[in-house]
Amino acid sequence: IHIVADAEAGAKVVADVFTRTLQAAGDTGAVLGLATGSSPVPAYEELIRRHREDGLSFARSRAFLLDEYVGLPAGHEQSYHRFIRENFTSHVDIDDAAVVSPDGTAVDPVAEAASYDRRLQEAGGVDLQILGIGSNGHIAFNEPGSSLASRTRVVGLARSTIEDNSRYFASAEDVPVRALSQGLGTILEARRIVLTATGAGKAEAVAQLAEGPISARWPATALQMHPDVTVVVDEAAAARLE
Ligand code: F6R
Repeated sequence: IHIVADAEAGAKVVADVFTRTLQAAGDTGAVLGLATGSSPVPAYEELIRRHREDGLSFARSRAFLLDEYVGLPAGHEQSYHRFIRENFTSHVDIDDAAVVSPDGTAVDPVAEAASYDRRLQEAGGVDLQILGIGSNGHIAFNEPGSSLASRTRVVGLARSTIEDNSRYFASAEDVPVRALSQGLGTILEARRIVLTATGAGKAEAVAQLAEGPISARWPATALQMHPDVTVVVDEAAAARLE
């Protein structure tokens, strides 16, 4: 667990983990697991800077998003497909076709979820997964009550998540109520995980993640079962750690 002064310092720690993973993968490229939301944005900005100024390359890497809203086409302003391109991947040298997300408009979302999970496995699994955390302890859209062994599937969003995410939409009524999300079991298969959080609103979730009993009540506690997790938090998000 790294407790850092601010989001900028946290971004450097997270970007260092990415840099090491990309360097270790060498010419074959890494399989990256990407999160949306506000938490990873400073790290993405730092990675874009390293690409431009230091020549950090994503050329042969592939990327899988954690989740996507059901019902939003890829081009929709609030789709995670669009978010990751605008905030990260279109600014580095990763092939756009190598950045994949669950299809929120699939006619059969259940089949799309199973196929996404399969595609992840066929890619050889994720080398490095970046995560944010919800104020209710969710990771990806695995809301409280999610099975610790869950796979990519269609999930319903918790009321608190709809409220948290309504800041991106005209109103809470406009936030989709379902998403396609990697499961906790899927996420735990990533070889390395880095989770980042800032602000007092995340303090309870971060304390549960690090120190609470492993329980579906706080889905992020599943990460305690993973051997290689780096948690990067500012003072406010770390405030309730013992
Ligand atoms: C995003 C995701 C979510 C967010 C979480 C935190 O792909 O899966 O779990 O990481 O809701 O969101 P922010 O970072 O906006 O506070």
